[in-house]
Amino acid sequence: MSSVSISAIGQYDGQDVTIYGWMTHKRSSGRISFLMLRDGTGSIQATCVQGETDQHAVDLYPKLTQESSLAVTGTVRRDERAPGGYELLVSRIEVLQLAETYPISPKEHGVGFLMDHRHLWIRSPRQQAILRIRHTVINAARRFFDDEGFTLLDAPILTPSSCEGTTTLFETDYFGDRKAFLSQSGQLYMEAGAMALGKVYCCGPTFRAEKSKTRRHLTEFWMIEPEVAFADLDIIMKLAEGLVVAVIKEVLKTREPELYQLERDVAKLEKVESPFPVISYDEAMKILEDAGEPLSWGEDFGAGQETIISNHFDKPVLIHRYPAEIKAFYMKNDPDRSEVALCVDMLAPEGYGEIIGGGQREDDPTILKEKIDEAELPAEAFAWYLDVRRYGSVPHAGFGLGIERTVGWICGLEHVRESIPFPRLMDRLYP
Ligand code: 4AD
Ligand code: MG
Repeated sequence: MSSVSISAIGQYDGQDVTIYGWMTHKRSSGRISFLMLRDGTGSIQATCVQGETDQHAVDLYPKLTQESSLAVTGTVRRDERAPGGYELLVSRIEVLQLAETYPISPKEHGVGFLMDHRHLWIRSPRQQAILRIRHTVINAARRFFDDEGFTLLDAPILTPSSCEGTTTLFETDYFGDRKAFLSQSGQLYMEAGAMALGKVYCCGPTFRAEKSKTRRHLTEFWMIEPEVAFADLDIIMKLAEGLVVAVIKEVLKTREPELYQLERDVAKLEKVESPFPVISYDEAMKILEDAGEPLSWGEDFGAGQETIISNHFDKPVLIHRYPAEIKAFYMKNDPDRSEVALCVDMLAPEGYGEIIGGGQREDDPTILKEKIDEAELPAEAFAWYLDVRRYGSVPHAGFGLGIERTVGWICGLEHVRESIPFPRLMDRLYP
């Protein structure tokens, strides 16, 4: 099957070509009938004219159903009025399959229905736009680290222990004699990797048996996690800022049609330039107090508080030094103020919440052992992690950027479920 793709159609002006694709809709007026064909790279209007188009195709036209798969042959013609700037004057239509009545029509559908049909819903222009932007976000993030001299180091998915707290662990049987857990984060393995390769990152799926049905929580989500040897909190905060700036820049540069399709206010994204505001947890508390929503010291921010804080800025904001109590066991406490951790969260603007979490790691083997015991984590499962501190421990730091939250923010989505091809939520495992 030799054919051309719609995205490259401009190179074939005046020539006869065949396009393989799916019919999205059609309409007729008098002797002329139109069908819209999409092939995954774009859409083109194919025009049949009675008397000019092969009679077989003209007879076939009324039978064509939405999403039927077709091979359409015709002449490419430049036409200012046609969507995309070109149309195809049809000479022949070959039906690969006549689709059954398609469940998704241009009329409004409820979200539950669309989610049940996610395998088909991803064909819609809006979902295609989101998925293309997701592709660009992941690519741009990976390219950023590659250009900064990082080595990609894949973390395991099946792990012997928890990383981000035992309450959100997915457990599975491992050959009847042991338990395995789906990884909550590749971080601990990246720490070992940083001691081998200096600067490493992983990018893969992570799992949280999160019993929360919010617009920000998935049970399976993707994270990109850099880890750097001989680095402290300040270095990692700059790295996080650089990453987000690079990702936004690439999306703005290459995904203008998709952002337009999503009706995204691009001016808001254009503001995302260095430097980002950097505040401490204590300063964030002051913002909440001034907004009439005070918290007591030691409490974590909920979605509402995060929105109040982020609304203060038109760029992402970095918040550092949270109370150690509310952060994970591996964080290093500030030597100048032991009640706070050398950690950082980045909140996206416009109320999209936390997109990055990370910080400097505890590098002292004795203190780390105490923290593991305090968190009531099984010592055997962490023996290797302590080894990383026993043989040439160095200050090191890293973070994780949540891909779906980032895509959700960039696309201006109401819910994170649209930012991943097949979302896994507390109440959704299908399709
Ligand atoms: O803040 P978190 O839990 O940090 C970690 O997992 C660290 N071990 C990362 C590291 O330092 N290497 O998660 C990091 C980010 C969050 O900021 C958020 O963007 C995303 O991962 N995230 C989720 N995204 C969707 N659904 C969930 N349930 C998420 N939980 C975290
Ligand atoms: Mg976090």
